[in-house]
Amino acid sequence: MLPPLLIPIYQPDLGGKEKAYVNQCLDSTWISSKGEFIERFQAGFASYIGAPNALAVSNGTVALHLALATLGLGAGDEVIVPSLTYVAPVNAIRYVGATPVFADADPVTWQVSVADVAARITPRTRAIIAVHLYGQACDMLALAAIANAHGLLLIEDCAEALGTRIGDRHVGTFGDIATFSFFGNKTITTGEGGMVVARGAAHQKLALKLRGQGLADDREYWHDVVGFNFRMTNICAAIGLAQLERADEFLAQKRTLAEAYARELQGLPLELHAEVAGTTHSFWMCSLLTEQPSQRDPLRRALRDHGIETRPVFHPVHTMPMYAQGQTGLAVSVELGARGINLPSWPGLGEAGVQTVCTAIRAHFQD
Ligand SMILES: Cc1ncc(COP(=O)(O)O)c(C=O)c1O
Repeated sequence: MLPPLLIPIYQPDLGGKEKAYVNQCLDSTWISSKGEFIERFQAGFASYIGAPNALAVSNGTVALHLALATLGLGAGDEVIVPSLTYVAPVNAIRYVGATPVFADADPVTWQVSVADVAARITPRTRAIIAVHLYGQACDMLALAAIANAHGLLLIEDCAEALGTRIGDRHVGTFGDIATFSFFGNKTITTGEGGMVVARGAAHQKLALKLRGQGLADDREYWHDVVGFNFRMTNICAAIGLAQLERADEFLAQKRTLAEAYARELQGLPLELHAEVAGTTHSFWMCSLLTEQPSQRDPLRRALRDHGIETRPVFHPVHTMPMYAQGQTGLAVSVELGARGINLPSWPGLGEAGVQTVCTAIRAHFQD
């Protein structure tokens, strides 16, 4: 039997104004998807990342679906997406009827390989999805240059990247459209929730319309396109606003964790997912690689024996049954997926928590 879980991989901090704001929703009866907190959360979020607007939706997966529908992607279109990612962006390509084309990862940053993206472009390619993985940034300047040169749309999946910057610029402001997730394990949470950030006014308008059942501009209860109900509730937005007020605090705490992990794990045969010069890693997940794939699961098991929860780095999506099309040349994704571990990374873990995790890791390597 497994010992009790003492240190989870993640745990949200709801100790700010969440309760007060949610109570305002309850007291006012504005509990559905209209109400002041939706507007306040959207405006606050847009301002936080330096984007012209933001549209709150019910989760990060529908954010991606809405983004791809807004860009008009569909049957016959190829969309280049990393194989080393959470499955949601790949599913979103399928939802709109387009075809995912997998690109490999960079072995150092773990982000999509720019050279491999370029190599996968065909006459059918219409878009690239950059997924900022685990809080690290993709090379957006290079990807934007490729997209421009080939007339491709550029989508950023920033679900794992609140607080991630390239220079001074927040991710999500480089492409045509970007998405965020506020699931309970994200840097800020609304329980379930997401955000769509579109650069152009036409895309902003269309995303708003599609989010709300494709309602026509000038006639009540008249729908002139097939839309969705992807709206966020006022209650979720109330939690989101309270979380956003503390985003800088959470990010500072997470940076402290990453620094403590780096210090405490020095000298062990492990490679940390480190910050890249010129970027800000938001350390959504503090992560590492074992030297060999065969060392990964024993280390995870040893930590679990100490009551410490970890996660494996994502299984490459091209190896999953519904996407196993025999695509080749994805060896780095396979390697990282087999060697990687995400460590407990929640803001309140603190340096003492990191020390407990690292003591268990050291003990494992001394055995
Ligand atoms: C990279 C990435 N994209 C999309 C999502 C989907 O977000 P959600 O779980 O809010 O639907 C996640 C969520 O974990 C994610 O990690």
